Amino acid sequence: MFAVCFRHGRRHRSTIAARGCTVADMTDVRPPDALQREGADDEPPRRPLRRISGDLQVRGVDMQRPNAARMFDYYLGGTANFAVDRQAVDRLVAEVPEARVYARATRAFLGRLIRFLSHRGIDQFLDLGSGMPTVGNVHEIARRCRSDARVAYVDVEPEVVAHARQLLRGVDNVTVTHADIREPETLLAAPEVTELLDFTRPVAILAVSILPYIPDADDPAAIVAAYRDNCVPGSYLAVSHSTPLTMSEEQVRHSESAYQGTRTPLAVREIERIRELLPGYSLVEPGLVPLPQWRPEPDINAQQDATASANAVGALGYLP
Ligand SMILES: C[S@@+](CC[C@H](N)C(=O)[O-])C[C@H]1O[C@@H](n2cnc3c(N)ncnc32)[C@H](O)[C@@H]1O
Repeated sequence: MFAVCFRHGRRHRSTIAARGCTVADMTDVRPPDALQREGADDEPPRRPLRRISGDLQVRGVDMQRPNAARMFDYYLGGTANFAVDRQAVDRLVAEVPEARVYARATRAFLGRLIRFLSHRGIDQFLDLGSGMPTVGNVHEIARRCRSDARVAYVDVEPEVVAHARQLLRGVDNVTVTHADIREPETLLAAPEVTELLDFTRPVAILAVSILPYIPDADDPAAIVAAYRDNCVPGSYLAVSHSTPLTMSEEQVRHSESAYQGTRTPLAVREIERIRELLPGYSLVEPGLVPLPQWRPEPDINAQQDATASANAVGALGYLP
């Protein structure tokens, strides 16, 4: 198996269009060593503009420059990434070795959040910047606690959306929306969101490792406030964000420059700047803390992550 078509779920021997599947619908799933041997995606073709869903006009799969979703997938050991993503991550890890634990610590934090929220009675989740589907997705964790949990996934990357729709076909009470979180009104009016989530009841907004991709020029605080204002008291906002806990200034520069080639550049922010993104919420204990310190559970992964700094903090806000 060399490539998979998201749209039809067909497997192909290469990413060349065949059997009605277009190149833009396929991702390479060869193991990294095979890719290196063949140099298969070293000089890939640029993909054309295409329509993915609704009325949002987007680019197709762009294998010539890295993207945050595929880089995150590579950090996690996934296969939905290309050589260009792996090279960007490898270059970053060479300069900032702690970056290796960032994605794992983020997913562990997300898991603890969902368990906590589910036990608090939350059964509706809006996952902003949900990323490539991987092990331990929000609906899987939530449904271990509440079988009726509803999850609306949202991402700006067409590959993420196509991959998630393929994997979640036939799964009840889970939707995937292709949208940009910088357009809250459009996102909150999307049918996949309005028909699934009931905003007259408490909802958990998940902004886990997404706000670093929103530059100051786009006013992340105003964006977060727009989602907050659509929620009733009793709702929650979860946030995680890159911050220089152990990184030097030079390492921060390396981190940001690793994402310069993507269309969602990264902003590492100081903790006080991150706190400013949470007005109106009262923070659940222990507040805004390094990810491994947020309600650690006696589980092997949490212990591993606690041994190294992920250079990221997280918090859960409660809307009184
Ligand atoms: C680091 S991944 C985080 C994935 C997931 N939240 C998690 O914690 O595992 C960031 C995701 O945000 C998405 N993203 C970046 N900017 C976005 C935007 N403006 N609107 C929607 N999604 C965005 C990227 O495509 C990527 O999938």
